[in-house]
Amino acid sequence: MTGPAAGLDAAHGGDHALELAGVGRRFGALTALADISLKVKAGERRAVLGSNGAGKTTLFNTITGDFAPTSGSIRFFGEDITGFPVHERIRRGLRRTYQVSLLFAGLSVIDTIFLACRGVSRRRFSLRRPGPDEPTRAQAERIMHAVKLDESRDALVGALSHGQQRQLEVALALAGAPRFILFDEPAAGLSPAERRDLVQILTQLPAHIGFIIIEHDLDVALRVAERVTMMHEGRIFREGTPDEIESDPEVQAIYLGGGHG
Ligand SMILES: Nc1ncnc2c1ncn2[C@@H]1O[C@H](COP(=O)(O)OP(=O)(O)OP(=O)(O)O)[C@@H](O)[C@H]1O
Ligand SMILES: [Mg+2]
Repeated sequence: MTGPAAGLDAAHGGDHALELAGVGRRFGALTALADISLKVKAGERRAVLGSNGAGKTTLFNTITGDFAPTSGSIRFFGEDITGFPVHERIRRGLRRTYQVSLLFAGLSVIDTIFLACRGVSRRRFSLRRPGPDEPTRAQAERIMHAVKLDESRDALVGALSHGQQRQLEVALALAGAPRFILFDEPAAGLSPAERRDLVQILTQLPAHIGFIIIEHDLDVALRVAERVTMMHEGRIFREGTPDEIESDPEVQAIYLGGGHG
């Protein structure tokens, strides 16, 4: 395509949120990721499944910039971000949650969300020159509602259940204007009821926000994702729709025959 429309398309980053080409990551002699090529469309919901040590979290670390890949390139909405620092990726709308909770126990739920929203907004200097915080407050209230924490609005984070803390982590990823979120095992350690809440929260996120969810629970993964990528020993060995993955004999052997979950 040529002309103004092509330029507009490039400015909006084309139709892929993420394009990984030949991404690898070594730790000394260990190859944690080998030649990962992966495309995720804008707004797409993708699950990444794989055994312990398959390289799933390392994949996230290379996308967010926590670790540089040792080979390959990563594009975010068409822009090559391979060498970008973490904050430049956040500024472009990339978010993540971590496998282990990192929350401030002594703050209330609403204050935690508010501070996250203010931290990524231009109003963050308002401590020096107090200005209207209302738009940020309103955003914090909307996000709290989206993650179903209304009833715990003024509770201290340290007093929340494990499931509620996971919901709060989703809230933090929604602060600002996220375009794509990486969720690292958000359902780990949740009760069946908490899992149902989480699935509902994730499926009800605004349609333009795409995500990748790393998930050991096949049931959760297949319910929230449109496509599934299977990893093993640092490589992708299968990609397909939830139906295709569920009926795949190799996947069945691992997840259904192997007494998983
Ligand atoms: N910072 C690091 N230093 C050295 N080795 C690492 C580091 N991070 C990960 N690894 C190794 O890379 C491999 C992939 O680890 P990774 O954490 O990506 O796996 P995972 O698929 O997320 O596993 P899990 O399901 O247990 O979370 C493992 O062998 C791991 O020990
Ligand atoms: Mg991991």
